[in-house]
Formats: sequence, structure tokens, C-alpha cells
Amino acid sequence: MAVQWVIGNWKQNGNRQLLTAFLPRIAKAGLGSHVGLSVPFPYLDLAFQGLQDSEIQIGAQDVSQYEGGAYTGEISAGMVADVGGRFTLIGHSERRHYFGESGDVLSRKVEHAMAAGLSVIFCVGENVAVRQNGHAVEYVLDQLKILQKVDLQNLFVAYEPVWAIGSGLSASNEEIAVMHQAIKVHMGNTTPVLYGGSVNASNAQMILAVEGVDGLLVGGASLKADEFIQIGQCANRQT
Ligand code: PGA
Repeated sequence: MAVQWVIGNWKQNGNRQLLTAFLPRIAKAGLGSHVGLSVPFPYLDLAFQGLQDSEIQIGAQDVSQYEGGAYTGEISAGMVADVGGRFTLIGHSERRHYFGESGDVLSRKVEHAMAAGLSVIFCVGENVAVRQNGHAVEYVLDQLKILQKVDLQNLFVAYEPVWAIGSGLSASNEEIAVMHQAIKVHMGNTTPVLYGGSVNASNAQMILAVEGVDGLLVGGASLKADEFIQIGQCANRQT
């Protein structure tokens, strides 16, 4: 069985105090390089330093669509790599929804992230109306179109149904299996596909056992050290 990834996404949560308590605990848990944590930008360096003696990887939740220059407030992919970041999320549904990120913007972000040597976890997922109309698969495959010319080597896709994010209601095993299979075929069966949306310590094992699930993207539950460690331990870390 291939390695399964567990990536925590802290979103706009946490502070120095939480991180200072959190880092030594996860650093000591013996988790492998299949585990990653995306903290807010100001804490990337602190997280990198705190996890240096562990195999856990640190990443960002987003990067600028610009390589660098006069773009006040932006953080480039190169800066993330410079402070030890190994990967970034791109296209999270909250970025698409609250910040209006469209295909062109996401495409530039992917390009710059890859040029900076970061792995990209490209997030896709349908909203509840699309799911109810029965068009979820075609909607998600359409979101993947911008990846056509991307180097697949450093690419992951995260399937996160919008209605499952932060709702406490994860997708069913069947919904996950059908979507992951469709994404895998679309991507030429080379790209790992993670599932995200209300993953916690109680359902992680079950979701990781679903055919086609190469890992998990974990929001709320990644803010609790014990729970995140338990989820990380559920994943298969060997190739
Ligand atoms: P959740 O978030 O685990 O809190 O549902 C997942 C995500 O948005 O990445």
C-alpha cells in the first residue's frame, strides 16, 4: 500500500502560545514525513524551528500569484520555501469563496509555487447545490482543468466538498470513493488524492480505508495536538 498523507490546516487560527505548547508534543510523537502542518504565515518559522528534530513537514495555506515585487501584503512562494516550507495549499474553497480566486489566479499561484520548489496541494470540491443537482463529479473535474500543463511530480489534489468543511458532516465512503476514482483517472492515475471535510480522530481510520484515499486534509481537528497525532498515526507511512 502506498504512503498516506495527513496534512493539518490551521486556517486563520492559533497563536504563539498554542504553537509553543503544540510543537513539542507533535515533535515527540514519532510521526513521519507523511505528516504536514500548514500554519499561518507569521508562525511558519517558529513551526519550522520547533519541528526540526522531527520528520513533520511545514507548509503554507496559500501563496501570492506574483513571484515578488511591489505587491503590498503578499507572501511569495519563494519566501515560504526560504523559511523551510515544503508545500502549500492552493485553491482552498475559502480562498475561492471569500477572496474570489478564479482559475487564472490559481494557475499563476501553482506556477510560482512549483518554481519555488514547493509541493502543491490543489483543493477542489463542490458546494451543496451542485451535489444535490448530481453534477459534483463534472464540477470537480472542471476545477482540475487548470492543472493540465503542471508538473505532476509535486502535485497533490485535495477533494474537499464545501458542505463537509467545518460542518461535522463528512462525505460518505461511497461519495468519497466515486470522486477519488474520477479525479485519479482524470489526472492519469499518478497524483495522490487527499480527502478533507470534517475529518477527526473518530472517522480518520474509516476514511483512510476507502479505496482511492491517499491521505487527509484536516482543519479543526488539527488544532488539537492529541487528536492530530492520533489521525497522523492512522495513516500508512510506508511505501
Ligand atoms: P475541517 O476543514 O476539517 O475543519 O472540516 C477542512 C479544511 O477546510 O481543510
